[in-house]
Amino acid sequence: MGLLELARRRRSVRSFSSDPVEVHGILYAIEVALEAPSGANQQPWEFIIVSDPEIKGRIREACERAERDFYERVRGELAEWLSEKGLSWRKPFLTEAPHLIAVFAMMGRPYSVQSTWIAIGYLLLALEEVGLASLTYTPPNPREIGEILGAPSEAVLQTIIPVGKERGRKPKERRYSLEEKVHIDTWGGSLTQREPLPWTPS
Ligand SMILES: Cc1cc2nc3c(=O)[nH]c(=O)nc-3n(C[C@H](O)[C@H](O)[C@H](O)COP(=O)(O)O)c2cc1C
Repeated sequence: MGLLELARRRRSVRSFSSDPVEVHGILYAIEVALEAPSGANQQPWEFIIVSDPEIKGRIREACERAERDFYERVRGELAEWLSEKGLSWRKPFLTEAPHLIAVFAMMGRPYSVQSTWIAIGYLLLALEEVGLASLTYTPPNPREIGEILGAPSEAVLQTIIPVGKERGRKPKERRYSLEEKVHIDTWGGSLTQREPLPWTPS
């Protein structure tokens, strides 16, 4: 399967079955992530795979406490989007998914956050390739979660990715097209006048 097809198939999953999942698929996906480019090749990322139900429970409890505060304060467009999506402070996926991958960026290295997020992008596609569902969850209290996991202070949590098998099947969220997002030469330069679309690698 080509990358475009994989990318189109990937969705954020927030409801997981409790079926166990082998850790090998996750290790494969992290190996892919380790190939990501990084500022000065510093590879400023660290991954913790959390499978222990007790630790997952502590993470969920801490995240839900912080999310409750966030949901009470959030207003405007973001509040509307969250309510349309049916999202709330409850984060059951943090204990339902058989594994969580906590991804950290090491501060003080060049472009550590940007580099780590490139690696996260690789990781998400690789999880999709091995048939594992995932979510990019960004808790409001990354420092507290880092402490639960025993991370040093220079390691800042970027995301917790629950991984497992999807319960049910959620539709893909709409994407903009190439024509809507790509400009040629200058802002507003039309793509369609130059390139016949669609194009796929041979
Ligand atoms: C940087 C980033 C932060 C995100 N944070 C959250 C989050 O905290 N909670 C959540 O449920 N989804 C989160 N998401 C998932 C997005 O809501 C999701 O990717 C987007 O709605 C598109 O849906 P899709 O991934 O199914 O295509 C995040 C995604 C990214 C890239």
